[in-house]
Amino acid sequence: MRALVTGVAGFIGSNLAMRLVADGWSVRGIDCFTDYYPEVMKRANLAPLLVLERFEMVEADLLEVDLDQLLQAVDVVFHEAGQAGVRGSWASGFRVYNETNVDVTQRLLEGVRRNPVHRFIFASSSSVYGNAAKFPTFETDRPQPHSPYGVTKLAAEHLCSAYAHNFGVPVVSLRYFTVYGPRQRPDMGIHRMIEAALNGTTFSVFGDGSQVRDFTYVGDVVEANVLAAMADVEAGTVMNVAGGGSITVAQLLDLVGEVVGRPVPVEWGPPQAGDVERTGGSVDLAKALLGWEPRVDIRSGVTEQVAWHRQRRPA
Ligand SMILES: NC(=O)c1ccc[n+]([C@@H]2O[C@H](COP(=O)([O-])OP(=O)(O)OC[C@H]3O[C@@H](n4cnc5c(N)ncnc54)[C@H](O)[C@@H]3O)[C@@H](O)[C@H]2O)c1
Repeated sequence: MRALVTGVAGFIGSNLAMRLVADGWSVRGIDCFTDYYPEVMKRANLAPLLVLERFEMVEADLLEVDLDQLLQAVDVVFHEAGQAGVRGSWASGFRVYNETNVDVTQRLLEGVRRNPVHRFIFASSSSVYGNAAKFPTFETDRPQPHSPYGVTKLAAEHLCSAYAHNFGVPVVSLRYFTVYGPRQRPDMGIHRMIEAALNGTTFSVFGDGSQVRDFTYVGDVVEANVLAAMADVEAGTVMNVAGGGSITVAQLLDLVGEVVGRPVPVEWGPPQAGDVERTGGSVDLAKALLGWEPRVDIRSGVTEQVAWHRQRRPA
């Protein structure tokens, strides 16, 4: 099978591409190294892929690239490229979120409409739910994003459904719940907590630490993508991909401190606009349709991530 992985130099895209090549897929990756976090980190994510024979890299912007050429001989598109992060999506930041999450997705959907594929997987987000009315949250619960970022992910998801229902584009949207593990983005909480514990620097907690999160290990997210690529599910299906556990930010700080062997120095700050109180997704649908469920518990996953942070530190 031949895959196109968009956002291949990013956290999830690079982990996914490694797994696909290991499974025998030929992978074309595309990334334009946006400046949301340092390019050097993305280049490091990409380095182990570039030496693999069945991997081909396209350095280009999805807003401009010739899609008919990009999609040539592709069986499955894994659309991971996006502008992530909730807090930067307000005010003038919104334009980039809209272009990257909505315009790019619409462009790609037109591309696969002209160049049909076996499956198009869209990396959606639990942020489409906002402050959900109940937990665990089901795919049938009303999405009500609490941030402009969530609005753009929901808009892109609806575009996927519209292309599925009007033109039969075989889309599956996976709503990831806060992903963590090796190569996690440097703006994300667990990444910053681990670095703070290792370096003795301060970690800023926004809110009182009682916020609850459902964290999903990146290997589990990759597995859900691989299963969704091959499963016989209806075009336009939307599924939660959640870790299945709940932990407060305060408990997570303790866990990270334990695994690192040094407490995380903390500075408390006010809650930030766009942050939700709680996330927690039902995985019943992914279990029923894909035979998928999360396998990696938070302690094992954090241990893997800490090992990655240690291994990339200068000797
Ligand atoms: N990490 C999470 O917890 C999480 C949770 C829910 C959803 N998601 C979604 O999963 C996807 C991957 O997230 P991530 O954490 O790996 O982010 P990431 O920022 O590490 O990776 C995204 C990659 O997309 C690339 N990109 C952005 N715009 C592009 C364009 N126009 N052309 C080519 N490349 C472009 C970036 O350079 C980056 O390398 C995103 O769509 C994100 O919204 C992530």
